[in-house]
Amino acid sequence: MMKQTVNARSLNAAHAYGLQVAMAKPTGYFTRQLERGDGAVLSIRQLISGDVGCVVWDAAIVLSKFLESREFNHPGGHLLSGKRVLELGAGTGIVGIMAATLGANVTVTDLEDVQDLMKLNIQCNNHLITGSCQAKVLKWGEKAEEFMPNPDYILMADCIYYEESLDPLLKTLKDLSGSNTYIFCCYEQRTMGKNPEIENMFFELLKLDFEFQEVPLEKHDEEYRSEDIHILQICKKA
Ligand SMILES: C[S@@+](CC[C@H](N)C(=O)[O-])C[C@H]1O[C@@H](n2cnc3c(N)ncnc32)[C@H](O)[C@@H]1O
Repeated sequence: MMKQTVNARSLNAAHAYGLQVAMAKPTGYFTRQLERGDGAVLSIRQLISGDVGCVVWDAAIVLSKFLESREFNHPGGHLLSGKRVLELGAGTGIVGIMAATLGANVTVTDLEDVQDLMKLNIQCNNHLITGSCQAKVLKWGEKAEEFMPNPDYILMADCIYYEESLDPLLKTLKDLSGSNTYIFCCYEQRTMGKNPEIENMFFELLKLDFEFQEVPLEKHDEEYRSEDIHILQICKKA
């Protein structure tokens, strides 16, 4: 497969062959399809109108495809297979659903208002799920005991975008992660308005309790990558 670097804003158009958008106005949904490496196609419903969580963001596509990359290949099978995975701020649930199709036992979490959408998407892709997938409410900063013991993996895409959420998000990460929890955080680097400041604040807070490193671009999916979409691998400090 030819290596390609695309700009985040052109990601959808550049990959129109892999991510077809089909409008279905009467139902209030439109569907994004994401092809897996083996040709199976995830079909993700998005709402025509709603809050930020009702559509698939580019960072979610990049993280979903990264989960399929050779970084997760292991002689015993896919590294996520049989693992407990929690997705934060899952929106449509695409990342967690991809993980569940790779054999993980996943809980996709978000606010109350996108629960029905996440449940619909789990149902629509159930035939591809080889692990398990359920949707639950988890508001950052609030009690998270029900998600214990510590997940093996925590996934989050495009969750660093407003200042008031940084403290609660970091609290949830601290509460949920143990010494053996791998966190993958994918975000789109934005240059407008307060975004750079918010990103810097996130890193300042993150480094108090976590160690992190960027996954080099060469290790992202060969097609679904972009210079301005970053994946961090994060672990709680011992
Ligand atoms: C930009 S969207 C990203 C959605 C999805 N991860 C994606 O990349 O397609 C941010 C998500 O974070 C969720 N979110 C925002 N604040 C939250 C909070 N305080 N607690 C839990 N989820 C929150 C939103 O509901 C939304 O689904």
